[in-house]
Amino acid sequence: MTEGNDAVQPKSTETTEPESGKTQQVRPPITRRDFLIRSNAGAVAVGVMSGAGFAATLVPEPQAPPRPAPPAAPPNPVTTRRVSLDIDGKKHDVTVDVRESLWETLNYQLGQSNCNLGCDRAQCGACTVVVDGRAVNGCSLLTARYGRGQKILTVAGIASGPGVQGLHPLQRAFWLEGGFQCGICTRGFIMSSYALLQSNKNPTTEQIKEALSGNICRCGEYAKILNSVKKAAAELRGEKVTYTAPLITDEAPTPITQNTGPSTSRQFEFVTALGTIEQFDDLALELKQKPGILGVSGTERTVTPIWDPSRLDEIRVRQMLAETGHPVRP
Ligand code: FES
Ligand code: FES
Repeated sequence: MTEGNDAVQPKSTETTEPESGKTQQVRPPITRRDFLIRSNAGAVAVGVMSGAGFAATLVPEPQAPPRPAPPAAPPNPVTTRRVSLDIDGKKHDVTVDVRESLWETLNYQLGQSNCNLGCDRAQCGACTVVVDGRAVNGCSLLTARYGRGQKILTVAGIASGPGVQGLHPLQRAFWLEGGFQCGICTRGFIMSSYALLQSNKNPTTEQIKEALSGNICRCGEYAKILNSVKKAAAELRGEKVTYTAPLITDEAPTPITQNTGPSTSRQFEFVTALGTIEQFDDLALELKQKPGILGVSGTERTVTPIWDPSRLDEIRVRQMLAETGHPVRP
């Protein structure tokens, strides 16, 4: 018998018979209390001590069967993370592999093909999206780091409404100025331009080139891309813009703004010939932004501006060319 059971065992006492002088063991009678204690009926013992009725205390209160514990959610593997992404103003709760890129999550998990994959190594900018106002390469950023409320903007999120009328001025300008050919790079260029125009409403050609230096167009449409950004910037500033191609909508035909008035043109020869035809493209873009200039054509050696004679004369056109850093011969 264990030490604990000894504690509740009634103690026997020794008595001596007066006639025979023999001693014998006498066990005391077991009381109800002893019985209950020995039978380990703790609840009943408490009931007795508190004066409750004996019959009532012997029957335990009926209790609802214990509820089965809900099955524990399987823990995320250490290689995954739960993130809440804010993409184009909508929340997306997804579990991502910690090695997963933002581009992979957008395409493979959310089915959004709003940015293209070119090099997949942060070199071409085709995958550019804007995160909290900064242009970033979606192919090279880990989604697991973007669940803390960062605002992720893709090319689909900058339109203001449905249809061609809802296009962002940048989207419209790239379309109508032909700032694309195969289109692989276009979404990235638009988003890099978008980030630029958020902080600089009137960028110079050099500033646009700098902002787009992380984007590559294998089709070589750089001149038209620069022109597209400049026209979009002008439209965003509230200026009247005439696009190369007419805007065709489903809703209503848009009148084409064309210069139908008189125009003057003359071919000039550069004092110093340009190094490449791309240099001429840059110059032509710059000239076309000047008020009164209706068109520009030329080569590395010559330039032929067309201007509105009611606003400009040859002297002023020559000054404009000199101001661009490319004076022409008398
Ligand atoms: S695909 Fe991301 S930079 Fe080329
Ligand atoms: S339009 Fe083809 S890569 Fe730019």
